[in-house]
Amino acid sequence: MAMNKRILVTGRLPEVIMAELEKVFLVDANTEDKPYERQKLLHGIKDKDGLISMITDNINEEVLDSASRLKMIAHFGVGYNNIDIKAATARGIPVSNTPGVLTDATAELAFALILAIARRLVECDRATRDGHFLYWAPMLFLGREVTGKTLGIIGLGEIGKAVARRAKGFKMRILYNNRSRIDASEEKELGAEYADLQKLLIESDFISLHVPLTGETRHLIGKAEFSLMKPTAYLINTSRGPVVDEQALLGALLNRTISGAGLDVYENEPALTPGLTELSNVVLLPHIGSGTLETRIKMASMAAENLIAGLSNKVPPNLVNPEVLQNRRLTE
Ligand code: 8YV
Repeated sequence: MAMNKRILVTGRLPEVIMAELEKVFLVDANTEDKPYERQKLLHGIKDKDGLISMITDNINEEVLDSASRLKMIAHFGVGYNNIDIKAATARGIPVSNTPGVLTDATAELAFALILAIARRLVECDRATRDGHFLYWAPMLFLGREVTGKTLGIIGLGEIGKAVARRAKGFKMRILYNNRSRIDASEEKELGAEYADLQKLLIESDFISLHVPLTGETRHLIGKAEFSLMKPTAYLINTSRGPVVDEQALLGALLNRTISGAGLDVYENEPALTPGLTELSNVVLLPHIGSGTLETRIKMASMAAENLIAGLSNKVPPNLVNPEVLQNRRLTE
């Protein structure tokens, strides 16, 4: 089904999906593994009907004003805080995301960070490479056990629930905090107990963040929250960097207000708060939550499917701004 429509893809996606897109659209794409330059985006979007955007693109009014033909934004990712949804809606542009397909990969990574920070995997790997494994001794490189500890999950959406299911296997006590309580039957299935934020912060050994970035969640975890946590607690963040006040986190790690942190995202990524890399009680990853080949193929395929639907005058299956349907731009 070839369409005479032009699309822009701002990130290098798996080839199998690019080949599919090229069968349908006239494609202009970023071919490099780095963010699409702003000027290229502003220029490239001018004659495009559709866009597949990445988290690294700030899709604001400036971009939307350049995009006079744009009729659909299929975002590659579940979190779309980089897109001005209100501005897109006002211009009649539907926006979609890629929920569900990255749930397991992201939950897996959150758990990898829990294990890595508690058992000091990165620190131990570095020491072993550097020739410091000279002898074995009972007290060397002791970590903390994960099994049986209390896990506090902030944001019990699909990813938070997938983390809870993994925690069950580690016989953890699970506390959760969410905008709304889930059904009692689901609480039972997950073995998760609702807690207000304060209780969760006070009682958890591991605190894992799974909220979207919104005006309400920006700096949800700051100095006051760190001061409530146990000195033995670890913070895990695979959601969005600005949910944590990174300067306050640095202070909490330096002063040992908490024991450590496992981070996949940063307040001003890719920039890191100076001082973070000098600490041994942090594991730092480059935003790879959904970074498995399997998941990236599924995400790209889902974005493509949404784009095709949107540009065929159909409602995209993963539309995030349904209010747009009242004033959607015509695709013909
Ligand atoms: C993506 C993510 O890597 O889905 C999300 O919200 O943060 C990641 O899975 C990123 O969005 C790519 O654009």
